Amino acid sequence: MEKEVEEELKSRLKDEFSNYTEIAGGKNYRYRHLKTVLEIVHKLKQNVETSEEIDENVLEIAALYHDIGRKEDIEDGEMDPFEGHEGHDERGAKIIEEYVSDFVTEDQLKKIQRIIRNHHSEPQTVEGKIVQDADKVSNFGVNNLWRQIHYAAEHERTFDDSLEYFWDSAVDRYRGQMKKLNFDYTKKVAEKRLERHKQAIERIEMEMDGEDF
Ligand SMILES: [Fe+2]
Ligand SMILES: [Fe+2]
Repeated sequence: MEKEVEEELKSRLKDEFSNYTEIAGGKNYRYRHLKTVLEIVHKLKQNVETSEEIDENVLEIAALYHDIGRKEDIEDGEMDPFEGHEGHDERGAKIIEEYVSDFVTEDQLKKIQRIIRNHHSEPQTVEGKIVQDADKVSNFGVNNLWRQIHYAAEHERTFDDSLEYFWDSAVDRYRGQMKKLNFDYTKKVAEKRLERHKQAIERIEMEMDGEDF
């Protein structure tokens, strides 16, 4: 999409995700997540294998706004992404028009609505599959330590509880999510991110036990 359109759409989005704190993310986290997913689709549109033609406007706007439905989950300056999860795809598809209709055709709007509606279920188009993978892979890797540390602090978990959770539950969950990715390319990136994440946790454990002395 054009630079000015991107700036305008980002500013409208930022207004919706300001002055609140997200569980496992911190202050104004959702806007940052949405920008990350846009950055990832910029890369993916050049790297995924597909014979279908990609509508870049549809892809990029859907990526930037896929979680717009979450704005309705902000209450008294807080948002719990795990509680409000259900239905934000449908809610987002209903309200997307008011943000983007100045910049898209009727047909593009319908495609964007469909991508948002299906981003946690079965995407129907190549743009939908790319957005879904970008969103899922954004939760892989060392960057996720930010959210995990936040989560641990908010739930009064000890350091050792957090490590136990990572090795006993999170790694399997990541592996399960990896299998559901739509493209081989994104699976490879997710695999590398998980490997780096495991190494980072191992290093943290090693230093906490003074093993590097
Ligand atoms: Fe979502
Ligand atoms: Fe998301």
